[in-house]
Amino acid sequence: MRFLSQDWMLSWAILVLVLVSCTPCLSATNRNTKNNVKSAVFMSPKIELSPGSISNKFYYDVEFPRGHIALKSFNAELVDESGNSVPLQETYLHHWIVLKYQQPKNVTNNNQTDIIMVRNNGLCQDDILGQYYGLGAETRGTDTYIPDPYGVEIGNPSQIPKGYDEKWMINVHAIDTRGVEDIMGCIECKCDLYNVTINALTGKPLSPNYKGGLGCCPDNGQCRLRKGFLGTKHVLYLKYTIMWVDWDDFVVPVKIYLLDVTDDLKISYNPNGMSIKHNCKVEYQVKPCTKSHVNGSGCVNIKRTSVPIKTGGYIIYSAGHQHVGAIRSTLCGQDGRVICNSVPKYGTGMEAENEKGYVVGMSTCYPKPGSIKLFDGEILTLAIVYNNSIMHTGVMGHMYFLVAEKLPHHHM
Ligand SMILES: *[C@@H]1O[C@H](CO)[C@@H](O)[C@H](O)[C@H]1NC(C)=O
Ligand SMILES: *[C@@H]1O[C@H](CO)[C@@H](O)[C@H](O)[C@H]1NC(C)=O
Ligand SMILES: *[C@@H]1O[C@H](CO)[C@@H](O)[C@H](O)[C@H]1NC(C)=O
Ligand SMILES: *[C@@H]1O[C@H](CO)[C@@H](O)[C@H](O)[C@H]1NC(C)=O
Ligand SMILES: *[C@@H]1O[C@H](CO)[C@@H](O)[C@H](O)[C@H]1NC(C)=O
Repeated sequence: MRFLSQDWMLSWAILVLVLVSCTPCLSATNRNTKNNVKSAVFMSPKIELSPGSISNKFYYDVEFPRGHIALKSFNAELVDESGNSVPLQETYLHHWIVLKYQQPKNVTNNNQTDIIMVRNNGLCQDDILGQYYGLGAETRGTDTYIPDPYGVEIGNPSQIPKGYDEKWMINVHAIDTRGVEDIMGCIECKCDLYNVTINALTGKPLSPNYKGGLGCCPDNGQCRLRKGFLGTKHVLYLKYTIMWVDWDDFVVPVKIYLLDVTDDLKISYNPNGMSIKHNCKVEYQVKPCTKSHVNGSGCVNIKRTSVPIKTGGYIIYSAGHQHVGAIRSTLCGQDGRVICNSVPKYGTGMEAENEKGYVVGMSTCYPKPGSIKLFDGEILTLAIVYNNSIMHTGVMGHMYFLVAEKLPHHHM
């Protein structure tokens, strides 16, 4: 199942026309970089939603470009059965994440028992925030393109154990908010709007201090509807567009880092050096401000964490991920220099990519490659700022960034 968008086919058709009609006029110097970028559009399996319901499913072995390649971008959005963009007021895209794994070739029925997850370069640990890509409601308005000659290397045969295949999994968490009593409450997964008694993350009874978050909006959860609201079942898909180039010696690989502001790491010293245990909780609650917290800049909640990065390099790209209420995400170096300041864009209308009151994009940072260098062991600080004039539950404060450990030869 592979879908190509009409736009893509149209540009392809035009390109073919140009190639056929203008071959003598095309210079040979056109052969590099951008011209080699390939693009494909894929659809996730069906996502079925009724008013107020939640779908939070993991799709294994999804369609993905194969071979030894370098990914250049990953864009995604929810679409309906006709391929039309679905606005956030109708279905809130809480998050989608793309994870890499290796699966033994000899399994039957796609058995997942013996798969090996292959996480990004951190800095969380275990299976937490190990994704290669991932965003939420802001996905339509957030750039992901990596400039040349950089790319995310995948499918390198020397990194796939013998007898295994490299595969990809996508998790999509979507909340249908048609007819609900409290849209913002439903998208912040407020426990009192969901008929739950057990925290879905811990499997334990809900604590009265836990007001909302992923623990209260599991797959098949149901947010409270307005009395008498009836609506039909919707069938949606995550449509994802991937751009890539074939791997060659001119591509410079980047490492993927994802910092989580809830990471309260434990550092222990022992005779062999230092060991770090990260503790990423993915999301947190922002308490409403009280009078005494209000100052010149209004009601703001600032949360920070500082984490060392083992191997340094050059920052190529960076973007924050936050929810409604976001003011900014800032990543700073050890000397206090600002590495990236990523700010939300709020929508003002009704249409997809401009939904009023939602975070519809995060600004991105593309420092001139070579201009921002992290040194080995540098301690980075992430500061996440939310507007807390009202309480927010289940908010996130993540910073995604790409690091090239070397620059292309001609820059050195
Ligand atoms: C697949 O191969 C591995 C290694 O040879 C073996 O340990 C495993 O039992 C096999 N699994 C199946 C389902 O055949
Ligand atoms: C998957 O494989 C494991 C052993 O590798 C086996 O115990 C399990 O029953 C299999 N599951 C299915 C659904 O076939
Ligand atoms: C809430 O859940 C309980 C037990 O699962 C069920 O009996 C009840 O009907 C549910 N209430 C609503 C409003 O869905
Ligand atoms: C006032 O708000 C700013 C954020 O803009 C913060 O840095 C500062 O610590 C706050 N001051 C007090 C007294 O809360
Ligand atoms: C926070 O949100 C409130 C209500 O929407 C708004 O009045 C206020 O200006 C915002 N404060 C900041 C610092 O953005």
